[in-house]
Amino acid sequence: MRHKGLFITGTDTGIGKTWVTAGLLNLLREEGLHVLGMKPVATGAERTPTGLVNEDALQLQARGSEVLAYAQINPWVFEPPVSPHIAAEQAGCELDLDKIVDACWRLAETTDCLLVEGVGGWEVPLNRHHTVADLAVRLGFPVILVVGLRLGCINHAVLTARAIAGRPVQCPGWIANAIDPHMLSAEHNVETLKSLIDPPLLAALPCLSPASSNNHAIFTRIQRQAILRAIGA
Ligand SMILES: Nc1ncnc2c1ncn2[C@@H]1O[C@H](COP(=O)(O)OP(=O)(O)OP(=O)(O)O)[C@@H](O)[C@H]1O
Ligand SMILES: [Mg+2]
Repeated sequence: MRHKGLFITGTDTGIGKTWVTAGLLNLLREEGLHVLGMKPVATGAERTPTGLVNEDALQLQARGSEVLAYAQINPWVFEPPVSPHIAAEQAGCELDLDKIVDACWRLAETTDCLLVEGVGGWEVPLNRHHTVADLAVRLGFPVILVVGLRLGCINHAVLTARAIAGRPVQCPGWIANAIDPHMLSAEHNVETLKSLIDPPLLAALPCLSPASSNNHAIFTRIQRQAILRAIGA
C-alpha cells in the first residue's frame, strides 16, 4: 500500500520549514485526519537527562494527533548544528538511507498522513552518496517547497524548484514565508517567483511577531484543497 504523506523542504535552513509543518499538522488535524510529524534526521540538539533532543522534533512531536516517543519522531539526532553528513562523521557513524526510509515507513503505516521535515535544504548531503532529495524521492511523498522571503531568495527558490522538478517527485506547490520583517519589496518578490516557478503558490504567510507566531495565520491562508489533493484525501 502506498502511504500518505508530504515532504517539507525549503530554500535554506532557518526559513520556516518547521513552522509550516506545524501549521500543516494543524490544518490536517482540523480535517479530521490522524497526522504525525517527523524529523528523521536532525542536527543541533540539547543534552537532556533522556538524551539529545532537537527543538524541531519536539515541536512536531507535540503537534501530532498523538504524542509518540521522541525516538520515533527523530531517530537520528546529532548535537552540533552542522550538515548531517558532517555531524554523523564526527559522531563516528554514517547515515544509511535505507534505514531512514524504513523508519519513516514504519511511522507512516500508523497514521493517515505523515509530514516529514527535511534537514537544511534540498541538496544537503546525508552521507557520501545520498542527499535530502534522495530521501524525498525514496519516500515518494509530494514535496512542498517553503521559500523564506529574504534578500537572495529568488535565486535560492528558482534553483531549488528546478532541482525538485528534475527528480521523480510531485510538487503540489510552494509556500512563501515572510521571515524578514525588514525585507524590501517582499510582495514583488512573490509575484516574480510566481512567474518563475511552475508549481502554484499555496500560501503567502505573513511575518508574525514572536508573541503572535502561533499557527492560526498559517492554516487560514494555506490552500487547503491543494494540500488535501496532494495527499489524496
Ligand atoms: N512567518 C514567520 N513570522 C515570524 N517568525 C517566523 C516565521 N516563520 C518562521 N519564523 C521563525 O523563524 C525561525 C526559523 O523557523 P523554522 O525553525 O521553522 O525554520 P526551519 O526552516 O525549520 O529551520 P531548520 O533548518 O533549523 O529546520 C523560528 O524561530 C520561527 O519561529
Ligand atoms: Mg526546522
